[in-house]
Amino acid sequence: MTYRIAVLRGDGIGPEVTDEALKMLQAVQQRFGHEFCFEEGIVGGASIDALGVPITDDTLALCQDSDAILFGAAGGPRWDDASTDLRPEQALFRLRKELNLFANLRPVRSYPMLDDKSPLRPEIVRGADIIFVRELTGGLYFGQPKKRWETPEGRRAVDSEDYSEQEIARVVRVACELAANRRRNVVSVDKFNALISSRLWRQVATEVSGAYPDIELTHMLADTFAMQLIVRPTQFDVVVTTNMFGDIFTDEAAVLSGSMGMLPSASLSGLPTGRTRGLYEPIHGSAPDITGKGIANPLAAILSSALLLRYSLGLNEEAEAVEQSVMSVLEQGYRTSDIFSEGTTRVSTREMGDLVVGRFAAHKG
Ligand code: IPM
Ligand code: MG
Repeated sequence: MTYRIAVLRGDGIGPEVTDEALKMLQAVQQRFGHEFCFEEGIVGGASIDALGVPITDDTLALCQDSDAILFGAAGGPRWDDASTDLRPEQALFRLRKELNLFANLRPVRSYPMLDDKSPLRPEIVRGADIIFVRELTGGLYFGQPKKRWETPEGRRAVDSEDYSEQEIARVVRVACELAANRRRNVVSVDKFNALISSRLWRQVATEVSGAYPDIELTHMLADTFAMQLIVRPTQFDVVVTTNMFGDIFTDEAAVLSGSMGMLPSASLSGLPTGRTRGLYEPIHGSAPDITGKGIANPLAAILSSALLLRYSLGLNEEAEAVEQSVMSVLEQGYRTSDIFSEGTTRVSTREMGDLVVGRFAAHKG
């Protein structure tokens, strides 16, 4: 069976870390005898510079024709001009919307060997293992009206938090399906006491959970959640929330892993129970401060390739083998700069990729 994978390296450290994820997928082809067909597309600031737009119809068509998309990062200071609305990130928004990638899965866990890298005390982060399900094609990012205009008193702008019951229901279903294979607990995060859209969110979430009698779904206000996440992160299993809240809380949750460089993500267009088209990217973004230095942590990108294998290609054994290789290289004490500490071995982006691939390839049976 041939699988088609679109590769969008993008900006900043995107190309560097994507290269390591590609090496990983090539090793998977070899060890398990699959055939992956990789096709490159241009995206983000690179696409603005070369073609005048963050993503072209051609690149979008390439993604539409693929089983999965491996994505690096989009954006950078070069394209940070607040006076124009032409931004590299629009490539992501267009991909999310036009490929209907409504469910963004962001697994966050603590790694025992990286306990000391978290700004939180080890006894607080130890054992944390959460999967965030962030709604990705609605809410404040896409709701209408969304515009800016001139008034006699000056400039004005509006974004809208807008959700339909269908949009809420499908993402809550994703959360419940994930919880069924985990600790069967879902916390839905909203701002019920202030927002009408949150009241609908809460109501629909409760209704959907009725179809999952084995799953316990509870609700938490966003401000309470922001605090509970760092006070007692081990209380959470699956967390489902809106696009905007999810964006904020997943960066906050990154402190549990010790580094943003450890966090993968999957953006899916269907339930995680069968094969579904998805876009896979590390959550760290383009990281302009370290671009081109060869020090970026490729593990988030490599772990994203494991999610790609699992959710879009249905290759669970392969996905687990990739994740185990990452764990074993960490156990052996190899670290990129972001997770380095005294007594461990500092390695570059490429060396880390080679180590994980080497570990993976050395595995017998
Ligand atoms: C993320 C990122 C994006 C978002 C940016 C790059 C537009 O922060 O995926 O979390 O806000 O969705
Ligand atoms: Mg974000």
